[in-house]
Amino acid sequence: MQIKGKLCEDLGLKYPIFQGGMAYISTAELAAAVSNAGGLGLICSSGLTAAQVAEEIRRCQQLLEPGRPFGVNLMLQSPEIAQIIDFVATAKVPVVTTGAGDPTPYMPKLLAAGVKVIPVIPNVRAAKKAEAAGAYAVVAEGTESGGHIGEMTTLALVPQVLRAVNIPVLAAGGIADGRSLAAMLVLGAVGVQLGTIFLVADECPVSDLYKQKIIDAVDTDTIVTGRGTSHVVRALKTPMPMRYAELEKQPDTTEAQLEALAERGLLKAKQGDLEGGCFMAGQISGLITKRASCAQIMQEIMAEAEAALSGK
Ligand SMILES: Cc1cc2nc3c(=O)[nH]c(=O)nc-3n(C[C@H](O)[C@H](O)[C@H](O)COP(=O)(O)O)c2cc1C
Repeated sequence: MQIKGKLCEDLGLKYPIFQGGMAYISTAELAAAVSNAGGLGLICSSGLTAAQVAEEIRRCQQLLEPGRPFGVNLMLQSPEIAQIIDFVATAKVPVVTTGAGDPTPYMPKLLAAGVKVIPVIPNVRAAKKAEAAGAYAVVAEGTESGGHIGEMTTLALVPQVLRAVNIPVLAAGGIADGRSLAAMLVLGAVGVQLGTIFLVADECPVSDLYKQKIIDAVDTDTIVTGRGTSHVVRALKTPMPMRYAELEKQPDTTEAQLEALAERGLLKAKQGDLEGGCFMAGQISGLITKRASCAQIMQEIMAEAEAALSGK
């Protein structure tokens, strides 16, 4: 079985590995480090103005070695989304991924500019809609992931999406080693998107506390809050999400109380605020035991995948 197939050829990648967009975290530095090491680095536009997104893109382009691709993960709810799309289209960003929300209204402009659009989708319906709108591929993201999540598990979602669409499918959620990459390729995915493991990368701009919390975590150390709302989030069991979970069980809790508690939670985690931070991370945190550079992380995953696929 070939690990480096059409995805690598089309996007100019050495490895079929995307670094998922992570709000406030996947900056130009992290994206460039992943891309320079052979994967696809993605700048996340979440929480940024159009001018700040433009600046991140410029900085990333400066940090990239010649010929390396990169991408932007678009936060569709941004009040400046129209300007951001305009800039992304004119800056000839090679790849755009989209998270929560319907990307289809924005796709014609991006496609006309030659941008490959790859929506991150939580179910078959969204995958079909993305295909019909001209997406190059989709990332099927399971509920094991860190951050905002859907309901389906990666193992159940990926084969159903593969059967439903004729465009390439990448798998995300719960992947942090080579055997899981191999498993997704055997299922029929063309590559994987990883988030949680890149949080412990040397080039990742989160606090030492955030990195250590992931390294210390065991399999059952994440909690999901907000089920039944449009803000379902998986994070480590630190004080803030635990308080949130308690509060949302109480009938007299107001939306405003929950919002106040969660405000800037990921940013606080990035800065190392144990009490107030929301340390978003996936269920695979328990498998992550050490810090490493982006290049080391991807080289190790690829070597393990190659060994697994050749029966070693
Ligand atoms: C801290 C954190 C923040 C994230 N923020 C975003 C985001 O802003 N937009 C998005 O589309 N996905 C976001 N994600 C999801 C990742 O891009 C990726 O798909 C996911 O982490 C893959 O699953 P894994 O965590 O099991 O590796 C985030 C994930 C994490 C861990």
